[in-house]
Amino acid sequence: MNLILLGAPGAGKGTQAELLTEKLAIPAISTGNMLREAMRNGTEVGKKAKYYMDNGLLVPDDVILDIVAERVAQPDCKGGFILDGVPRTLPQAEALERKGVRIDHVVSIEIDDSVIEGRMTGRRVCSKCGASYHVVANPPKKEGCCDLCGSELVTRKDDAPETVRRRLEVYHQQTEVLKDFYRNLGKLRLIDGNQPIGKANEDILAAIEAKV
Ligand code: AP5
Repeated sequence: MNLILLGAPGAGKGTQAELLTEKLAIPAISTGNMLREAMRNGTEVGKKAKYYMDNGLLVPDDVILDIVAERVAQPDCKGGFILDGVPRTLPQAEALERKGVRIDHVVSIEIDDSVIEGRMTGRRVCSKCGASYHVVANPPKKEGCCDLCGSELVTRKDDAPETVRRRLEVYHQQTEVLKDFYRNLGKLRLIDGNQPIGKANEDILAAIEAKV
């Protein structure tokens, strides 16, 4: 099963991708996590992405398409994958279609703009594997440590309120249009992301008719 998770910043794409990876046994491909890792490692991709990410803007499509094409060609994606945060623009979605990347379902996690700031200020992410937590809604078992790999939890630089506002504007201007694109292909499933994490996950599994 090949899935796309769509949604505003803070909608819960990363959180749901982790749960789905466990339940469906397919990898989650988060372009945000890949770009942050590239920045940490000082690669060419990381250097290109830094300005855009720090300012809440989208990284150019050609950079994204190269890293995604390379990742979905890996052997662990043969049985399916979850795209978290990609595509994010119409040209990215059209390029995936042109490249013949088969997509079965596109799940849009719908969330009210008014709850986003609270989610971002409470978010902590793993400095190594990128796993996402929330100090109230989804705390780690041990404060400050990732449940999955034990590394330190940090606050993301682009979670500063003014950058979150910019990211939300960018979402409405450049990404939301993808809902119509995938609706027209008959692949769009809408999920209420304002509900608790477990309930949203149940709704996603039902919407994609997953047998778990
Ligand atoms: P990216 O890392 O993809 O960020 P984003 O899309 O803005 O999404 P977030 O990671 O902020 O939120 P999320 O929906 O994953 O929410 P989460 O599960 O963490 O991208 C960052 C940057 O990289 C972009 O700005 C851009 O520059 C660049 N980029 C990446 N992909 C790109 C692309 N394809 N093209 C161009 N540029 C690209 O949840 C948020 C918080 O809420 C957490 O604390 C979580 O614990 C909590 N939470 C989750 N669900 C719930 C719930 N149901 N109830 C209560 N709390 C919840």
